[in-house]
Amino acid sequence: MPGTLLLVGCGKMGGALLSGWLDRKAAERYHVIEPGPGAEGFKGKPGVEIHAGSESLPADLVPDVVILAVKPQTMTTALPAYRPFAVKGAVFLSIAAGKTLGYFARHLGAQAAVVRSMPNTPAAIGRGIAVLCASPTVSAPQKELCGALLAAAGEVGWVEDEGLIDAVTGVSGSGPAYVFLMIECLAKAGVESGLAPDLAMRLARATVAGAGELARLSPESAATLRENVTSPGGTTRAALDVLMGAEGLEALMVRAVAAATRRSRELAE
Ligand SMILES: NC(=O)c1ccc[n+]([C@@H]2O[C@H](COP(=O)([O-])OP(=O)(O)OC[C@H]3O[C@@H](n4cnc5c(N)ncnc54)[C@H](OP(=O)(O)O)[C@@H]3O)[C@@H](O)[C@H]2O)c1
Repeated sequence: MPGTLLLVGCGKMGGALLSGWLDRKAAERYHVIEPGPGAEGFKGKPGVEIHAGSESLPADLVPDVVILAVKPQTMTTALPAYRPFAVKGAVFLSIAAGKTLGYFARHLGAQAAVVRSMPNTPAAIGRGIAVLCASPTVSAPQKELCGALLAAAGEVGWVEDEGLIDAVTGVSGSGPAYVFLMIECLAKAGVESGLAPDLAMRLARATVAGAGELARLSPESAATLRENVTSPGGTTRAALDVLMGAEGLEALMVRAVAAATRRSRELAE
């Protein structure tokens, strides 16, 4: 585990990761750069120093890891301040959608050690999943360090082919939003069927959370779990005939994930 982390950008995703790291004591010191109100909830936490900009960082700071968690659109203006750390042995861990290893080599120098990753927001409760891809300049201990940091916030996987990160973004990076939308839609459908809004939302939330937990803990495949609640001629079958029809959920999901994957590629341009 590293001594010092430098987190650049403490918004939704940076904050989610920082929460996970603090809970699991992932490092000794955290320097957080956040110009907005995003880091206010972390004020006074042990080992955390919050800065509005890079100018107030200690002159002798040499972080083990620089985590880049600003919006992709902000990255180019944010990066120059951190370039000196690239020659001081820090590894850069980016969570930005669409920003490629080639992009970081151009902005931080070809020798910079960079790991590109795609986490997701359940990291805030230690239940995220992140996929990482390392530049050839990253050493084995640096790889281990970045993997361990993201493992402190959930599951971790690695890919060799950087091109796959766009599809990972479409599935798990953006995926929590699809599931929250599912809760909203299920609750609205319950209201349409006559339930009071509060009860419909409670049922929808508990059903998605409970089914998610069952899928996590059960050794059965998702298809088997689905079949287990589907009796021939029953109520679930009637609903699944709609959801699994030609223009049903599968077709919609394929289009949605393809749109997110495409957008991730566009952000790289
Ligand atoms: N949200 C997700 O589910 C998710 C999932 C996977 C990956 N990501 C990636 O995570 C990154 C952050 O996304 P987000 O959703 O967390 O966005 P966000 O909530 O807007 O967080 C970005 C934070 O960076 C701050 N910031 C702006 N300029 C800065 C600078 N020069 N130095 C330091 N901080 C600066 C912003 O402050 P201001 O608001 O004051 O500008 C904001 O608080 C993105 O690159 C995104 O692709 C997000």
